[in-house]
Amino acid sequence: MFTNKKETAKIQLDPENIPNHIAIIMDGNGRWANKRLMPRVAGHKAGMENVKTITKAASRMGVKVLTLYAFSTENWKRPSDEVNFLMQLPVDFFGTFMPELIEENVRVKVMGNIHDLPEKTQKAAQDAMADTAQNTGMILNFALNYGGRDEIQQAVQQIAKDAVSGTIEADSIDDDLISQYLMTGFLGEYADPELLIRTSGEERISNFLLWQIAYSELVFVDEFWPDFTPQVFEKSIFTYQQRHRRFGGLK
Ligand code: FPP
Repeated sequence: MFTNKKETAKIQLDPENIPNHIAIIMDGNGRWANKRLMPRVAGHKAGMENVKTITKAASRMGVKVLTLYAFSTENWKRPSDEVNFLMQLPVDFFGTFMPELIEENVRVKVMGNIHDLPEKTQKAAQDAMADTAQNTGMILNFALNYGGRDEIQQAVQQIAKDAVSGTIEADSIDDDLISQYLMTGFLGEYADPELLIRTSGEERISNFLLWQIAYSELVFVDEFWPDFTPQVFEKSIFTYQQRHRRFGGLK
């Protein structure tokens, strides 16, 4: 429960209607830093700290999967200093947050082209996945060197190869099979997020989970990612809970 900005209304979340899978485009780190006359990377550092806060909030709310867009296949176009900083973040994040992840029973997964990342980033990701593999609580799923079109391209290639080799029949290629071949395939029934949030006031998808968000509710909030507090998170979920999801039907 929290009070909105004008302190006029209390918002009560329906605990029975918390999205199982929430995906977030964590945008606005650079602008957050600019506003404070700080270098852009200071925004990314603050953004990393906020990942810890929001991970704990999501886990305690009963979210089953939290997918975070941490680095896209297009982010390599940024200046090398910034890319280098972003590649160090997973090392720092898991280096400082692992005891709490274990305590929270959170399982870490990383999806994307991990093998193209610097050695230290790959190791941090692999170690975090191994160290939390036995955890049974929320899955914290980082999209790292991830792109939605790239993901679909890889899935189509693999499906074509399996069809040619006879592992699958062309006629068996349906929604479910395609979902299984995507990078979120391991999430099974939770592969598609019910809710996608983007921070910083931008209203774009930016090549994130293109297949999986076919019926997701989209919530855009004005706060920059480092300012996205658990209260704003709850408010976003409240917005989701007010929507009437019809999936193309009438009710
Ligand atoms: C977009 O903001 C943000 C990113 C490209 C990086 C997101 C990364 C984090 C929040 C930290 C990730 C943490 C871990 C543990 C991997 P922007 O830089 O595009 O902001 P701007 O639009 O204001 O310039």
